[in-house]
Amino acid sequence: MEPVDLTVDSLHAAVDDPALNSMNFLNEVAQHYPDAVSLAAGRPYEEFFDSAVLHRYLDTFRRHLADDLGLSPDQVDRTLLQYGRTKGIVHHLIARNLAVDEQLAVDPETIVVTVGCQEAMFLVLRALRAGPQDVLFAVAPTYVGLTGAARLVDLPVRPVAGGPAGIDLTDLREQLRRARAEGLRPRACYVMPDFANPSGVSMDPAQRRRLLDLAVDEDLLLIEDNPYGLFPATGTERRPTLKALDTHRRVVYLGSFAKTVLPGARVGYVVADQRVAGSDGTVGPLADQLAKIKSMVTVNTSPIAQAVIGGALLAHDCSLVAANVRERAAYARNLRHLIDGLARRFGPDGPVRWNVPAGGFFVVVTVPFNVDDALLHRSAREYGVLWTPMAHFYDDGTPVNALRLSVSAVTPAQIDVGLDRLAALVADGLAVSTAPA
Ligand SMILES: Cc1ncc(COP(=O)(O)O)c(C=O)c1O
Repeated sequence: MEPVDLTVDSLHAAVDDPALNSMNFLNEVAQHYPDAVSLAAGRPYEEFFDSAVLHRYLDTFRRHLADDLGLSPDQVDRTLLQYGRTKGIVHHLIARNLAVDEQLAVDPETIVVTVGCQEAMFLVLRALRAGPQDVLFAVAPTYVGLTGAARLVDLPVRPVAGGPAGIDLTDLREQLRRARAEGLRPRACYVMPDFANPSGVSMDPAQRRRLLDLAVDEDLLLIEDNPYGLFPATGTERRPTLKALDTHRRVVYLGSFAKTVLPGARVGYVVADQRVAGSDGTVGPLADQLAKIKSMVTVNTSPIAQAVIGGALLAHDCSLVAANVRERAAYARNLRHLIDGLARRFGPDGPVRWNVPAGGFFVVVTVPFNVDDALLHRSAREYGVLWTPMAHFYDDGTPVNALRLSVSAVTPAQIDVGLDRLAALVADGLAVSTAPA
């Protein structure tokens, strides 16, 4: 054996946890089989990327600082190039965006601009995990980034049944009761009411209201993650966010610009308007406490990256709905194409089943055999198609007969090829997965 300096079991337990390996594993498989059609990646469509817009957006934001906010040329440079405000420099534009697109009135001071939504998740969980009695709930299947962030702060995540309504409220109440009976303190429940990753399921407005009522009744916070809400598959009508319906400050709202502007900017945010009583008798928004944590994690979100996002917002009168007309049409077309393609290949009464999401990037396909990482390797190597085993989105390691398909980073022609290959995999009855390559 090679000489070693450290063993992994001497490090924080999270580093050896499957949740933290999941994204790397899936990226590595994709890199290993570059010729495979990827119905795995939930990335935005790259053909729409245009680096020329970066300069335009930067200029737009610079002009905004000078013309709208009255900054001198030196102050404009300092704002973009120097260390900056911990809570961010585009918070006022994000507040405007939420007002325009979500009819949501938020005080800009309750916003923390973060390094992607992922950092926002981490800050919230870090703040909420005060002691070993604290526990988080999350609708299962759950986005693995949430599970991984919870691991990093030693916050256990307990699954809540999702089902066709997006969350099973009876199960949530029962889980809360059980946790309290065990002496635990439920801190929050993580939900994705719009076109969830990975399930594709959405909550209808009545269910959202019931969930909010339950949160008030049970004194529970809700963490609403909404990266896909702008992408309904039919029409342009969208449902109100939980946060827009939240009259009791029960909802901590997470936003991401990865799918609506640029993932490479790595900018997201959190709206945390919960009133926190400080030890000095002052009261301020939870956002201020999150900012303290942020100041010790990333100091501040790159102002250059924020300026790009700020410019993109300004260029579209702060409406990302308006900015994403082309993207929304492409994703909706792809989702329809995938659903039609599944129906054509697998029929209505066969052993292969799938859900029909009302929008977003993802469809879950259930097959009559176990779907694991070994099967994914085999699918990539022998059939040339990548997808995501649903087991990655469950935290208990039990086998799952389902896979997630994503439509965001492919063309209809690639969807056709990918589905033909998936159909071949299924038809060949690769039910028994073998050892990884
Ligand atoms: C549900 C969900 N939340 C958060 C994120 C991460 O967003 P960001 O890239 O802004 O960190 C993703 C990315 O795929 C996601 O699917």
